[in-house]
Amino acid sequence: AAAEKGGWPSFMAKEVSEEPEAVANTVRGRVQDGAVVIPELDGLDELFRDIDRVIITACGTAFYAGMVGKYALEAWARVPVDVELAHEFRYRDPVIGARTLIVSISQSGETMDTLMAVKYAAEQGARTLSICNTQGATIPRESDAVVYTHAGPEVAVASTKAFVAQITALLLLGLHVGRVRETLPADASDDVTGLEALPEKIAQLLDEEQEHVEQLASWMADTRSVLFLGRNVGYPIAMEGALKLKEISYIHAEGFAAGELKHGPIALIEPGQPVFVIVPSPRHSALVHSKVVSNIQEIRARGARVIAVAEEGDAAVLPFADEVIRIPLAGPFLEPVLAVVPLHLFAMGLANAKGLDVDQPRNLAKSVTVE
Ligand code: G6P
Repeated sequence: AAAEKGGWPSFMAKEVSEEPEAVANTVRGRVQDGAVVIPELDGLDELFRDIDRVIITACGTAFYAGMVGKYALEAWARVPVDVELAHEFRYRDPVIGARTLIVSISQSGETMDTLMAVKYAAEQGARTLSICNTQGATIPRESDAVVYTHAGPEVAVASTKAFVAQITALLLLGLHVGRVRETLPADASDDVTGLEALPEKIAQLLDEEQEHVEQLASWMADTRSVLFLGRNVGYPIAMEGALKLKEISYIHAEGFAAGELKHGPIALIEPGQPVFVIVPSPRHSALVHSKVVSNIQEIRARGARVIAVAEEGDAAVLPFADEVIRIPLAGPFLEPVLAVVPLHLFAMGLANAKGLDVDQPRNLAKSVTVE
């Protein structure tokens, strides 16, 4: 097994280090003359023009990737998108039909809850497309179309490189469907270029921040609870950061939409409470950025220990943050792929500091093939 880990202390460490290539391999072969063209979706143009609703369905980490996908798909393809946990979707009476596209996301392609949702949707006459990391798995076989992520085999139970590849695939899907529907904004080619540049930026981020984040995690080895706040596409990243921490370091962790703070979570803030805040770029929306900065001020005033994940050059967070983790500049929907990387490192660092087995967390299975 040591050889399989290629010199890394764990599969998770190896897989986080492979995040740049997971993104690069997922983009490869899907950009033509500055536009996204996914060859596997050839022949589906009419379907994409015809759909009036998309429902993204998944479980666990894949569900949070789906939440990011919703923002990008709505912006680029101008079609209403809902994101629903597969086990919730399956057991109600959703309003779906021939003009509904169900996009399922699954690393393994074998998650029973997600598979049942896809089968159910197909029975109701909906069209199904899956995003999957495992060639020939059951979910893609049961779907009308498949866009594979090419993250390579993921062994550690907690998903890392597959997550960044899933977001990448959803961004590609959004740019592909938007092109077909002729709804892409004029500057969409910047996002295509940005996607191609993303692997290099993840590598840079790992290079610049890995040690810092691991050190932070080891200082925090006795922490009992960590909160994560994010807004817009940073919200699912906050959820994913909290999930990862629960999964492998067994620490109570919760993710919140930053805007919800005053509607409840702020009551949890007491002196010393660590809070990660995913700060959106001020270049994309000065307004949303300023709202998150004022959230930081509010929790800081109540004694929170603020760890800001903010883009390079964002000085507004400096006066209020105890720690700042810097991410390279990227487009609005590409930013979450970068922001999640330090959260993966943090969860792994903390589990290591506690002496836990990061690859095989207690009570969890890599692929849950029962309902
Ligand atoms: C399990 C794993 C999670 C994963 C989820 C969905 O719960 O422990 O890490 O996110 O299944 O798995 P899938 O293979 O469908 O992406």
